[in-house]
Amino acid sequence: MADANNLDLLVNAQDIREIKFVESPAPQEADLQAGEIFVRVEKFGFSANNVTYAVLGEMMRYFDFFPTTERGWGKIPVWGMGRIVHSRHAELPVGTRMYGYFPLARAVTLRPSEMTLTGFEVDRGDLAQVYNQYWLNSADPFHLPSNEDQMLIFRPLFFTSVFLDDYLADGHQYFGAQTVLVTSASSKTSYGTAFMHARRYAEQPVAGRCAMVGLTSPGSRPFVEQLGFYDRIVTYDDLASVSSDTSVVIADVAGNLDTRRQAHEHFGDNLKKIVTIGLSHWDKSQTGTLPAELDAKTELFFVPSWIEKRQADWGIERLVGTMAGAWQAFMADVDARCRLTRATGPEAVTKAYHSMVESRSKPDEGSVLSLWDDAFA
Ligand SMILES: NC(=O)c1ccc[n+]([C@@H]2O[C@H](COP(=O)([O-])OP(=O)(O)OC[C@H]3O[C@@H](n4cnc5c(N)ncnc54)[C@H](OP(=O)(O)O)[C@@H]3O)[C@@H](O)[C@H]2O)c1
Repeated sequence: MADANNLDLLVNAQDIREIKFVESPAPQEADLQAGEIFVRVEKFGFSANNVTYAVLGEMMRYFDFFPTTERGWGKIPVWGMGRIVHSRHAELPVGTRMYGYFPLARAVTLRPSEMTLTGFEVDRGDLAQVYNQYWLNSADPFHLPSNEDQMLIFRPLFFTSVFLDDYLADGHQYFGAQTVLVTSASSKTSYGTAFMHARRYAEQPVAGRCAMVGLTSPGSRPFVEQLGFYDRIVTYDDLASVSSDTSVVIADVAGNLDTRRQAHEHFGDNLKKIVTIGLSHWDKSQTGTLPAELDAKTELFFVPSWIEKRQADWGIERLVGTMAGAWQAFMADVDARCRLTRATGPEAVTKAYHSMVESRSKPDEGSVLSLWDDAFA
């Protein structure tokens, strides 16, 4: 493939195990419309979160961010670093570097609609606002120049954790439950939530507050144990060891319907609420229907909507201050929890994609990918 060409990864909307690459000529500056920029997607973080974007591509409109003309296929969004290679925008010169939401591609053309204090926005109609903001490195309070790759992995996941902790605790007083059960406890989104919970109650003994129990698979358990963030860790097959006299709210990051059914049978009326966050066990997320009673207790946590609410409640200064304090604390010792794996080029990206889809990823690893062979040179 000529380096001058662009390359996009497309996923089959009906079967996310099938992917293909599509090559197209990269535009030159003269090919751009006035106000457009052509951005090289230098590198991006990749985790179960991106697989969920593919699983929910049509239902939750993740495929609408970067549309393709190929019917039945979609482009998976990724959070990454971009650099402008051609520009017809007066305020965004060639070489400008930014963090934001990109397609899993070598490059993309963007049309900024508005400059902001931290970068620019792209108008994508009614698609959630947080995905449409691009943060210039020069004005980005969360950019970690010396730990950029770890930042790419954790930034979208940890801010979900920050607001999920707030949603459960201050937003809903844990729905009146004594214990939060967090599924997929080894996922980055889950253990970030446990980190926030532990930080919130650092001075308070477990007896006087809502406890957080991590539910995980036997293979992930040693990793979760050494984190030290949860009050207790239980494997899925041992859920019954949590007393059914305890009232619980489930923060469901796994989306495994078998676990939900099991919890319903075990806790009965003591299961107060299921807050659905993710589908890290995506292949177990459609195993039959759930009892209507259980459906009635289930609600979706969609972080963009909760952030918009908190921005209205708190104002931007408090919002950014809350995020910055938590971010610094969490990222201070991230290297001890997460080993980086880097891979470049279409073949390596294909391998990393299949590995994540088939859940062969390791909880102590974080993946940073690029379709450019020289990304980490
Ligand atoms: N609602 C929102 O706004 C929002 C925002 C951000 C993320 N999320 C969602 O949160 C979920 C977690 O994303 P993430 O990126 O944090 O995940 P991750 O760090 O990549 O972790 C994936 C987890 O999947 C689990 N898993 C399932 N089957 C496995 C297997 N056979 N082998 C190994 N691991 C297996 C493991 O957890 P266990 O072994 O502990 O089960 C593993 O730690 C995603 O579905 C994502 O979309 C939602």
